[in-house]
Amino acid sequence: MCGIVGYTGNRKVVPILLEGLRRLEYRGYDSAGLVYQSERKLVKFRAAGKLIHLEEAVDVAIGVASHTGLGHTRWATHGAPTLDNAHPHSDCTGELVVIHNGIIENYGSLKEELVAEGHFFSSETDTEVLAHLIEKYLENDLVAAVQKALARVEGSYALGVMWAKDPNKIVAARNQSPLVMGVDDEASYVASDVPALLPYTRKVIFLDDNELVVLEKGSYTIMEVDSGREISKKICTIDWNAAMAEKAGFKHFMLKEIFEQPQAILNTVSGRIIPDTGEVELPEISLSGEELCNIERIALVACGTSWHAALVAKYWIEKWVGIPVDVDIASEFRYRKLLMNERVLTLSISQSGETADTLAGIRLASSLGSKIVTICNVVGSTMTREADGIIYTHAGPEIGVASTKAFTGQLSALFMLTLYLGQVRQTMDREKLKELGAALIDVAGVIERILPQLQKDIQELIERYYDSRDFLFVGRGLNFPIALEGALKLKEISYIHAEGYAAGELKHGPIALIDKDMPVMALVPQDCVYQKTVSNVEEIKARQGRLLLIGTEGDTHLATLTDDVLYLPQVNEELNPLLYTIPAQLLSYEIANRRGCDVDQPRNLAKSVTVE
Ligand code: M6R
Repeated sequence: MCGIVGYTGNRKVVPILLEGLRRLEYRGYDSAGLVYQSERKLVKFRAAGKLIHLEEAVDVAIGVASHTGLGHTRWATHGAPTLDNAHPHSDCTGELVVIHNGIIENYGSLKEELVAEGHFFSSETDTEVLAHLIEKYLENDLVAAVQKALARVEGSYALGVMWAKDPNKIVAARNQSPLVMGVDDEASYVASDVPALLPYTRKVIFLDDNELVVLEKGSYTIMEVDSGREISKKICTIDWNAAMAEKAGFKHFMLKEIFEQPQAILNTVSGRIIPDTGEVELPEISLSGEELCNIERIALVACGTSWHAALVAKYWIEKWVGIPVDVDIASEFRYRKLLMNERVLTLSISQSGETADTLAGIRLASSLGSKIVTICNVVGSTMTREADGIIYTHAGPEIGVASTKAFTGQLSALFMLTLYLGQVRQTMDREKLKELGAALIDVAGVIERILPQLQKDIQELIERYYDSRDFLFVGRGLNFPIALEGALKLKEISYIHAEGYAAGELKHGPIALIDKDMPVMALVPQDCVYQKTVSNVEEIKARQGRLLLIGTEGDTHLATLTDDVLYLPQVNEELNPLLYTIPAQLLSYEIANRRGCDVDQPRNLAKSVTVE
């Protein structure tokens, strides 16, 4: 939700800001803006809409010899996505600017106070109060003014501030919204997320809540916002590189990321599943065997696609480990009465590690005595720093707003965790561990093998489906969450209304929707609920629903039900969720592409949802 980037050093700043914004545009694309220092003045450019409009506007400034600046890409919360509401926002003099990610919750009362004192506002945003509040407290010391202003603020922020009268300095601070600094000998950087820094440095420092940093050319000072006490923090080295965040010849990041899934699965299990012995090693979970044996219940907390991964994990953990599992959408979890104690393990699942609701959920669970383990893709993200244990998915940077490889990475990590718990609690014998560990590794190879042809088959099929108004996805058992995931993928990138259902639930209401115009993608692998799912498919066919079936190679019965069948190889049925996700992702991608939608940056969305 909003991307911010800042630089001070020896290089020309405008290209660095634009490149940073390009890499952060997945965080929001309602408007973009930047500011740079020009002698003792600040020069500001802003544009409504995507970054391209800002790039056109600043073309003239690319070569400007300024070495300090800030950039912002906006996901609108308060105020429409207009030019006036685009960041940076200025104080009354135009000499002080602020960029911000987050929500200033008490902005209404602060604005009233500032207006009464004679401040003039030019936007509808909550952010603008920050500029005027800092102005109110500003005498000669920018840092002191920022501290005083932040003491008055309620809500979340990652912000960057520049003041024309204190040139070549950036003050940045965070509370509940992500902020990472990049360091090298000659320059200092700040950004919402690591990809913006990758072309320049891989040495980073993750800021925590109540921390403020003063960036100057090649040096920085970190302090607590409230006390001003200086602190020293660990420099981390990121093992992603800049090319990993590029499209590599694919038309969209989403398509590239779909094709990266076999590698993402292998990277996630590599060194953790020992194929020869079937042993699973997860030291980063940081819980002792005794602690794991004492767990009486597991609470899974996540949002969106990550929540779908949690739903699959419930089937796996309850079946193989015998521990009851609750699955919650984080925004619900955080506001209901939680029955938690130290014998409940809370597991958060998040690609970004920054999702506000999931973070709030684990903080709450932790305050009630629960241990927290997070399954996360972004190294150093807030969730990983707050959890007791971590299982990283090694999917690499995911840029497309629609989550794909992070999802199959999460499924792999959750399956591995199931095996690990089965091993520690001795609910699975060595042979079973070996068989299922090998099956997980095998499924990566199967996906790699089928992807190119499956994409071609789906490209042909979608001519009959791309202009649908509605779409249903159905599945049973382990594939019910995959039906939900298929529907989410399709609606978020193609804007077709789509619903996912447990196939057996159709007759309790949704079957009323079925007619000749209703496409239904049914996931029908030859698994333990195959016959039941086929019966549900028959019920759809009897009502003339337009069936698109995904089934197991060699299942000739499916071809008697519809012309549109896609066959997938037989794999161990526990791993079907990973395999059956692939056609749902490709169908959504190809339909969205055929409809001319902006696949990587769908309307109204942002990759990282850091507000509640
Ligand atoms: O970073 P997270 O995994 O916590 O994000 C959760 C959701 O916001 C995310 O999965 C979202 O639903 C995606 N757009 C789905 O493709």
